[in-house]
Amino acid sequence: MNWGMKNRISRIIKPKTGRCVMLAVDHGYFQGPTTGLANLGKTVEPLLPYADALMITRGAIRNWVDPAVDIPVILRVSGGQSILKELSNEIITTNIEDAIRINASAITCSVYVGGEYERETIGNLSKLVDEGEKYGIPVLAVTAVGKEMARDARYLGLASRICVEIGAHMIKTYYTEEFDKVVEACGNVPVVIAGGKKLPELEALQMSYDAVTAGAIGVDMGRNIFQSDSAIGMIQAVRAIVHDSKDVEEAYEIYEQSK
Ligand code: 5RP
Repeated sequence: MNWGMKNRISRIIKPKTGRCVMLAVDHGYFQGPTTGLANLGKTVEPLLPYADALMITRGAIRNWVDPAVDIPVILRVSGGQSILKELSNEIITTNIEDAIRINASAITCSVYVGGEYERETIGNLSKLVDEGEKYGIPVLAVTAVGKEMARDARYLGLASRICVEIGAHMIKTYYTEEFDKVVEACGNVPVVIAGGKKLPELEALQMSYDAVTAGAIGVDMGRNIFQSDSAIGMIQAVRAIVHDSKDVEEAYEIYEQSK
């Protein structure tokens, strides 16, 4: 791994703990104005001091985020489909030059293993890895889950391992029982979990705790933070689990006290 690649990864995954809290707000690229993100800037601005990195599209960052802000950007560079159509039908929407203009610390796309366009989305990842390697920009592969796809360790391990084999530098996947098997399938490539649909806060914290206990290096969480009745309290609580090794009860107390 070259110096620039290592440097960018260390901006995202904090060297002090080897862990990371990414804040995901890229949902609009296929979901439109997701609850909580209609005014993305208003939602995200107060959360940025607590996030280690921001996962976002180029259109959203240019419209709603102050360029003076000091946060590593994980740029979503894929899209081309909507929730109304086949989800796996993704293309690369942003070229590497635009990612560099934005000063992205990483680029990301989704891979739909088992989806109708499985081959194309694996091809997208492969193209990003080639471009990323050329310029020292790491690639976060998202093991997206289509409507019909299972979310068990067998499937997520399969999807994550394929992304590792194609050359992804970080893996984002979903939490499931036997998550240690998913992490093991990724070897030395760091794994973070997505939050998925909004859960009660205690459950989302338990999931974060279980994921890091099973070997994840952190989370790339969206709705379970920004749709919470105390988004700041929730991101602080998740940080306490990920970076400070707090247990679920201690973290929940942080969320409760912030309300
Ligand atoms: C969509 C994504 C989202 O960023 C991801 O789903 C994370 O957000 P959430 O925690 O709300 O699931 O990658 O493919």
